[in-house]
Amino acid sequence: MSTVSAPVDRYAVVGNPIAHSKSPFIHAQFAQQTGERVEYGRLLAPLDGFVAEVSAFSAAGGRGLNVTVPFKLEAYALAERLSPRAAAAGAVNTLRFDADGIFGDNTDGFGLVRDIESNLGVALKGARVLLLGAGGAARGVVLPTLERGPREIAIVNRTAAKAHELVEQFASASAAAGCLIHGGGPQAVGPKPYDVIVNATAGSLDASLPECDERAFGTGTLAYDMMYGAQPTVFMRHAQALGARAADGLGMLVEQAAESFYVWRGVRPDSAPVLAALRAQLAAQA
Ligand code: ATR
Repeated sequence: MSTVSAPVDRYAVVGNPIAHSKSPFIHAQFAQQTGERVEYGRLLAPLDGFVAEVSAFSAAGGRGLNVTVPFKLEAYALAERLSPRAAAAGAVNTLRFDADGIFGDNTDGFGLVRDIESNLGVALKGARVLLLGAGGAARGVVLPTLERGPREIAIVNRTAAKAHELVEQFASASAAAGCLIHGGGPQAVGPKPYDVIVNATAGSLDASLPECDERAFGTGTLAYDMMYGAQPTVFMRHAQALGARAADGLGMLVEQAAESFYVWRGVRPDSAPVLAALRAQLAAQA
């Protein structure tokens, strides 16, 4: 007697560059853990060939994609239906090919919030949150953060006008959630400690520190850098020197992947052992 097993469903991460993506490792662990029949690869799309790459993958039976730099805006434009959080983010990191078309979602902000609350044990309800940066990464964080019921979100950016734009975009959602939202240039940082400070600037890429009043960091502050590396980022070291607790974005990476897996499969994997494995890999490189 032969047993008939379910077919393997194909997924991948698409970006440029893509060779160093940890997503195939993470999703292979999730598939193994949950028993889902999933195969997950990586796709290098030419800079001018994102849509063609996605179409070919989907036409060949692919079920979904994670989308990374520099294609999140193109993925947003390509999606025929969007989740509210992708619409708010203006960017898509998760595509699902459904019978009725291409669904676009964004799990990045959810991943951040989940890492802060579940893994790091810091509740956002009632918290005062300082968001540094007002680019794509920052925009994706605002709605998932608001949904957790913070008391205040300050959005502070080197270029004040971009912070004002984000504040404007989320003004009514914030009012509905009973959250004070405000922002501007670096002078908009309050002179007393925040509960959570998120560095969503691209500063850590070139080891530069976003301008921020030092009084924003206290012993009860969680300073979260969305970047990660084998060594603590310059922002993390700065925060620690001021007495704050610091965290990098590795947990966010795993949690956004877990949420994408859930969007595709309806099954929630256990992120903890995967985060531990990645942490050990990073430590070995240090
Ligand atoms: P991403 O999609 O990663 O957010 P982005 O949209 O280019 O990328 O936004 C980059 C963000 O990092 C912006 O908020 C940018 O500030 P400006 O709007 O003033 O350009 C911020 N940023 C980049 N380098 C920075 C630095 N050295 N110090 C402070 N902010 C920086």
